[in-house]
Formats: sequence, structure tokens, C-alpha cells
Amino acid sequence: WVQLAALAVFAYLLGSIPNGLIIGKLFYHKDIRQFGSGNIGTTNTFRVLGKKAGIMVFTLDVLKGAIPTAIAGALHTPINPLFIGIFAALGHAFSIYLHFTGGKIVATSAGILLGYHPILFFVGAAIFLITLYLTSMVSVGSLTVLTVMTITALGLQDWTLGVIGIFITGLSFYLHRSNIKRILNHNENMVKFGLGYQRRL
Ligand code: G3P
Repeated sequence: WVQLAALAVFAYLLGSIPNGLIIGKLFYHKDIRQFGSGNIGTTNTFRVLGKKAGIMVFTLDVLKGAIPTAIAGALHTPINPLFIGIFAALGHAFSIYLHFTGGKIVATSAGILLGYHPILFFVGAAIFLITLYLTSMVSVGSLTVLTVMTITALGLQDWTLGVIGIFITGLSFYLHRSNIKRILNHNENMVKFGLGYQRRL
């Protein structure tokens, strides 16, 4: 149990690291929270700081989920590694370094899936990219992939992944509430890629 608690604390502290904020301040002298959607995640980093920073933040945010989950798996912990990984997502959403605020847990949750079941990660990536192409809205892609992967987990009868998926998807819908409002009002931010953007032009 001591090992489990230590792993959970490690996952939470790692998940808490606000990579978007740090990279923005360090290399661009910008507080990313003051621009775009105000989020500290990959999408807003791409939007505000560009491709290079976006790729960096995506990679680091994915690793925040993947590393603790993979370590728990390698150590053959008595509980499912997903229960460790979820602390990284909680850290990202409720960061100890940001007065318990944070991001929308999409990249970090993808990382948890990568550490747990790499094939499902790539299936998820494909679903995300297809949805993004069809709608040009990252938020729609994010919420779609979380929902579809949770249903897939339940279909595969991986009950732990299913239950964790329900929790993460529910939390992410809540964290996306401003996006959902904009989607319903037809004024959600679009990326310059795909059919949704072309239709709006
Ligand atoms: O992963 C977050 C994404 O779904 C939405 O980001 O910045 O448009 O709120 P943003």
C-alpha cells in the first residue's frame, strides 16, 4: 500500500505540471491563460504559440499520463494501473501548482491509454483525427474520442477501463463546459483544417 500511495502521489504531482504554461512563459514570455481559450492544454498552445510549442506540450502532457500508468504496469501493482494513471489526469485538471485549476485532461488521458493499451491509443488517435477533419473543432474531437473509447472499453468487457473511461469522460465534459456552450451557439473556435472550416468560409 505504501508503494501504491507513493505512485499515486507521484502521478498527481507529475500530472500537476502545467507544461503549456511553463513552455509559454519560458520560451515565449507569454501566459497562455491570457490568450485564446485561456486553457493550458495542447490546443490552446497550438493556437497561441504555434506548432512547435503545441507538439512539445502535447508530447509532455501525454507522457504525464503514460509514465505513471506504465510504471504501475511494470511493477505489477495489486490494483489495475489505470487507478494510478487517473491521478495524473486529476493533477492536470486540479493542479497543486495552480490553486487546483488546470486543463481539460484530453492529452493526459490519451497518455493513460498509451501506458495501458497502446493499440487502443492509436485507435483513439484515428477517431480523433477523423472527427477533427469532419468538424474542425478540437473540442468536438476530444469529447467524441473520449465517449467512443469508453463505449469501446465496455464493449470489450474491460470493466475497469470502462468505469475509468466514464469518470474521465464525465469530468472532461464538465471541464469543456465553456466549449459546449460555444458549440451549441455555433461559435466554437475552429482550426484551419477540415470540412467544418471549409463550410464556414
Ligand atoms: O483538449 C482541449 C480541447 O478539447 C479544447 O481546447 O483550448 O479549444 O478549449 P480549447
